[in-house]
Amino acid sequence: MNAKYEKIKEIMEKELSCSAHNLDHVLRVHNLCIELAKYERDVDFDVLIPAALLHDIARVKESQDKTGEIDHAVLGSILAEEILNDLNYKKEKIEGIKHCIIAHRFRSGNEPQTIEAKILFDADKLDAIGSVGIARSFMLAGQFGQSLSRKDELNDYLTQNTSENGRLKDVSKHSPMIEYEVKFKEIPEKLHTQKAKEIGTDRLKFMDEYFKRLTLEIEGIR
Ligand SMILES: [Fe+2]
Ligand SMILES: [Fe+2]
Repeated sequence: MNAKYEKIKEIMEKELSCSAHNLDHVLRVHNLCIELAKYERDVDFDVLIPAALLHDIARVKESQDKTGEIDHAVLGSILAEEILNDLNYKKEKIEGIKHCIIAHRFRSGNEPQTIEAKILFDADKLDAIGSVGIARSFMLAGQFGQSLSRKDELNDYLTQNTSENGRLKDVSKHSPMIEYEVKFKEIPEKLHTQKAKEIGTDRLKFMDEYFKRLTLEIEGIR
């Protein structure tokens, strides 16, 4: 990594402390971005790499915000601009990086427009599924005291535990299996690049086998 990237990494290490969105996630996304970029043309790595390293800079600030108003993609692009200015990035690169960061999130309403933004979006979503996705969701489950499986009927659970802004009312009632049913399963179809769709479909197949087997083991059948 070059000196600027090392500096960004140092800043990120300080900013991220919660378990599932820590620097490990950022580095996995960085690696996936490089892999996905191999299958695309005209990728600007001076935009993609800093965007990958900075994309979740405001993640902890969002989770600590009780009002529910902070969107880490929006705040992240503002914080990234300050850092990139300090590191003497050119204005056009900063704009490209900011777009990647603001568009990396499903809920932000900003669709990725550039190839770099599409790659970052895809890499970030891929890190939520597959064996890493299983491990990450159980890390969160441990953090919030969740159960291994879901006990209630899924639709009843969703109406009872989701508030108007789409956030969970009680995180402890959630579980990796519910997250798989309502969120992870939809990921591959929402991806932009062909290679990410392939990796996503493969990762989902693995998750499906895992959760089926988990259900059988919980029921004592296997
Ligand atoms: Fe994010
Ligand atoms: Fe992320």
